[in-house]
Amino acid sequence: MKRYMIALTFGIVSVSGALSGQAPSPAPAEAAAVPVVPGQTLRDEHAVIEEVLGLATQEAKHLRKTKQLERGRVAMMAAFFKGFADQCHHAKEEHYLFPALEAAGDEATHKLIMQLMVQHEEGRAHIRAIIAAVKAWGVNEEIAAKDAALHLDGYVKLLRNHIKKENKELLPRVARLPDEAQQALAAAFDKVEREEMGGGTHAQFEQMVEELKASPPKK
Ligand SMILES: [Fe+2]
Ligand SMILES: [Fe+2]
Repeated sequence: MKRYMIALTFGIVSVSGALSGQAPSPAPAEAAAVPVVPGQTLRDEHAVIEEVLGLATQEAKHLRKTKQLERGRVAMMAAFFKGFADQCHHAKEEHYLFPALEAAGDEATHKLIMQLMVQHEEGRAHIRAIIAAVKAWGVNEEIAAKDAALHLDGYVKLLRNHIKKENKELLPRVARLPDEAQQALAAAFDKVEREEMGGGTHAQFEQMVEELKASPPKK
C-alpha cells in the first residue's frame, strides 16, 4: 500500500506530503543548529543518491524487458533526482562549496570543478529526458519506455562516476579547508535545507527513498 502520494508537476518537484494519516515531523529546531562537517554531509548524501541509482538500474532493466513504464514509480525517481540530487545536493556544491574551493584552490582544483559542473549539466539533461518520457507515456509508449530506460541508464552511469570522483578528489579538498571555512559551509548547507528547500523536505525525500525501496519493479 502506498504510504504517501507525490504530486509531480514536472516544473518543480512538489511532494504533497500527504501521508496517509500523517505528515513527516519537521526536524527539531535545535537539530539544525548542530555543527556538522560539510564534507561528511556530502558523502552521506552521495550514499543516499547511490541507493536510488541502484533502483534506477533495476527500473531500466524492467523497462527494457516489459516495455511498460510504471509512471508513478519512474516519476517519483525523477522527482528524487531532480529535487534531492540536483536542487538540494548539487546546489550546495555549486553555490557554496565550489566558490569556497575556488577561492582557496589552485589550477588543478579549478579544472576539477569545471569537470564536475559539466557533469551536473549532463545529469540535468538526463533528468529532463526521464520526465519527458513519463509525460510521453500514453502518447507514444514504445518511445517513452525506450527513452526512459536509456536516460535512467545514462544518469546512473554518469552519477556513479561523478560521485566516485567527488569522494576521491573533491571531498579531501573540503577536509583541508580551514575550520572557519568549513563552519561557514556547514551553515550554508543548513540554510539550503531550511530556507531554499524548506524545513521537512529532506525528511520527505528520505520517505521517497523508502517508498521506492518498498515497491521495486516486478521481475
Ligand atoms: Fe556534484
Ligand atoms: Fe556531490
